[in-house]
Amino acid sequence: MSKIQKIKGFADMFRQDADVFTYLENTAREVFGRYGFGELRTPVLEKTELFQKSIGEDTDVVGKEMYTFPDRKGRSLTMRPEATAGMVRAFIESKEYQPGRICKYFSTGPMFRYERPQKGRLRQFHQLDVEIFGAPEAQADAELILMLTTFLNEIGLKKLAVELNSLGCHDCRPAYRQALTDYYTSKNREEFCEDCRRRIDTNPMRVLDCKVPTCKELVKDAPSIADHLCDECEQHFADVKAVLDGAGVEYVLNPRLVRGLDYYVRTTYEITSNDIGSQTAVAGGGRYDGLVLNLGGPDCPGTGFACGMERLALLLGEREAPAPDFYLAVVEKDAGNQAMIFAQQMREKGLSGDVSYGGGSMKSRMRAANKSGAKACLIIGQDEFENGTVTVKDMAGDNDQYTIKREEYLKSL
Ligand code: HAM
Repeated sequence: MSKIQKIKGFADMFRQDADVFTYLENTAREVFGRYGFGELRTPVLEKTELFQKSIGEDTDVVGKEMYTFPDRKGRSLTMRPEATAGMVRAFIESKEYQPGRICKYFSTGPMFRYERPQKGRLRQFHQLDVEIFGAPEAQADAELILMLTTFLNEIGLKKLAVELNSLGCHDCRPAYRQALTDYYTSKNREEFCEDCRRRIDTNPMRVLDCKVPTCKELVKDAPSIADHLCDECEQHFADVKAVLDGAGVEYVLNPRLVRGLDYYVRTTYEITSNDIGSQTAVAGGGRYDGLVLNLGGPDCPGTGFACGMERLALLLGEREAPAPDFYLAVVEKDAGNQAMIFAQQMREKGLSGDVSYGGGSMKSRMRAANKSGAKACLIIGQDEFENGTVTVKDMAGDNDQYTIKREEYLKSL
């Protein structure tokens, strides 16, 4: 019979892989908690229009990558491709908003994008996502970048580059878009890739971000957003940079960093690494004032970021699992029940370890004990079974061995 295999671009995560994720989530919880963030879990499935209205119809994510299907009543649903849209929807629906109140949330979980799978790029991937609602100030953007770099430092990724940009606001961006369109018009449209020929009309800023070499060459001398920011955006960006400078966070200004989602205004950033194949972005984020309003909520500003957990895991490599305290080797075949009860008593005292089921040869049991990496091997052979004892063999240090009543051993723990 043919085996049923997992879906392309989806991954199983066995122990070590899952351990890395648990470690990332625990560290994030701790670090983000220090900055005042609380958890918000939102559903994996949302109405399709939520993503169309927020991420933008003309983005790759909405146009090409969403898992969208009708439910049994014909309503169009989508597996979330990112967390921000759902977080905003939940925020609006919950009425957590009050004028003047700042709400800080983080979330973690699977996201779905129908992309071409490769190293660091999956169709089901996981994000650590963070959002701040209610703070228009540049300091909120800076705080997020500081928190992100602190988190990356704490998990041991110290040398990652922060790329930073400001995309301007709804006031100054139209003039910049026009300057870009004028620039593209001065070029031969046919030389742009098919996507960019369309983007020139629908979203000229996205052309700056195109990975196709001919497009990259064509936009080399395109006008820079840095020269088109209004005074308010200029000051806002200056404040973000001043906080980062003051806190000693290094960054590289990248006026071509437009990001692949349409909701951004002002501050945007990405954390990149060259060590995960062609997928360089480990995290990305920015400000999205106007999105809450656009989704039917109050005129409340927002800013946030998300880290790709698979990419962080690739950079971290495998984590060594902590050594279990014991391996309980049952050699006497009738001792299975006693051994299981003894193991339970040790676990109730907080010790960790495995117990072999049933009897077996001393040699095979010792092999299993060694393989487990346990600090001690506890043996129950025929004598120990008859006398209510256990032989304790130290596996971590000098291989010391002694036999003791099981009750006394438990008392000594
Ligand atoms: P994003 O840049 O689309 O932003 O995704 C954030 C991160 O998710 C990326 O930097 C990358 O590490 C990871 N990622 C994206 N796609 C994949 C994939 N197919 N496989 C593996 N990892 C992937 C957002 O999603 C925004 N919602 C971030 C944000 C939050 N902006 C404001 N608040």
